[in-house]
Amino acid sequence: MAKSSLSVLLFFILGTLSFVLSTAVADLTSPYLSPTTIFPNYQKMLHTFRIFICSPQNTKNPISYNTPAESLFHTSLVNSPFVTQNPNEAHLFFVLFPSDFSTRSIARLVRDLRMELPYWNRTLGADHFYMSCAGIGYESDRNLVELKKNSIQISCFPTPYGKFIPHKDITLPPFNPLPHSLPQAPVNKTATFLGYFRSYGDRGDGESQSSLVNDLSGDPEFVIGSNASDQLTHMVRLASSKFCLFFYAVDVSGIGDALRFGCVPVVITEGPIQDLPFLDVIRWSEIAVFVGTGRGAKELKHVLERTCKDGYERMRGLGMKASQHWVWNESPQPYDAFHTVLFQLWSRRHAIRYARREWV
Ligand SMILES: *[C@@H]1O[C@H](CO)[C@@H](O)[C@H](O)[C@H]1NC(C)=O
Ligand SMILES: *[C@@H]1O[C@H](CO)[C@@H](O)[C@H](O)[C@H]1NC(C)=O
Ligand SMILES: *[C@@H]1O[C@H](CO)[C@@H](O)[C@H](O)[C@H]1NC(C)=O
Repeated sequence: MAKSSLSVLLFFILGTLSFVLSTAVADLTSPYLSPTTIFPNYQKMLHTFRIFICSPQNTKNPISYNTPAESLFHTSLVNSPFVTQNPNEAHLFFVLFPSDFSTRSIARLVRDLRMELPYWNRTLGADHFYMSCAGIGYESDRNLVELKKNSIQISCFPTPYGKFIPHKDITLPPFNPLPHSLPQAPVNKTATFLGYFRSYGDRGDGESQSSLVNDLSGDPEFVIGSNASDQLTHMVRLASSKFCLFFYAVDVSGIGDALRFGCVPVVITEGPIQDLPFLDVIRWSEIAVFVGTGRGAKELKHVLERTCKDGYERMRGLGMKASQHWVWNESPQPYDAFHTVLFQLWSRRHAIRYARREWV
């Protein structure tokens, strides 16, 4: 009796141990947070996800947006098989409005949804989502409060401070028109750099950036480019540098390109970043380095050199693998930006259902 329970215990311990070991091993080869569930879950999404679009009346058609990422998301969605005309089979409701809609018009739109359809009241908007590049701030209007607090917001990355609610909201990766691979032109790849930074002179570079970039510009291991350099030069530098530097407060639109060309992104940031695209899909700590703004050039170099010695190639490989999720396509491709944003919506479909007053 004692012997058999001991063996059961031993079996249990060994089982747990091998489970722990196997997940630990899986983690090293995958950029995903849940490598075993993401693919079956994604397949299930492709076959079952249904979205009902709630459009405002009397708006000009087509709906116009200020950024290519928003437009691409919109057209990809409306032309996809995910849209349903039957709201009763919808998992989520898309509250549709153009970029230039005033907060008053948005409030009116939500009020109309509340009065005319039974779906808003069921969850007070928690199974609804909307797209707003700059995000919606805190407003006093009841309709906007419910939209902001309950509905899933899709904003552009990076989203202004205070306009993003972690775990609920998601961001669109920026659209970047760079070709997907190096052209077949004669490219001199013998020069390699530890770090590459492309500066945008006119974007109000912060003080910490200017002084850091100044310190790095004399270092032969770093290449400092300007926005004036041509696309090919830029791509060759991405491909021939180990790390690409980004200042979160200034410009992070090139992170996807860096990942794709095998340049590990180094994001220099004042605090933790909560609005990274695909934050609940990808293990960002495995594909990018995050460094505080207070660090000088010397300390930054230490961090990079340490990363080079410990796990650099793995990081680079996982980043290249994950880069497919940053790519926007005119016609959507599997696992591209459109489908991955959609996957994040799908993962949020189990909206919190608020109890109706009558039930309490
Ligand atoms: C939703 O609830 C509000 C009260 O909060 C009510 O005025 C409205 O008629 C309800 N909508 C529907 C479609 O029943
Ligand atoms: C390539 O670049 C390296 C370093 O800048 C230089 O020494 C070499 O001569 C270049 N090769 C060609 C073929 O241009
Ligand atoms: C590049 O920098 C120049 C000079 O600072 C500026 O006039 C131009 O608008 C910038 N271009 C882009 C694409 O940011």
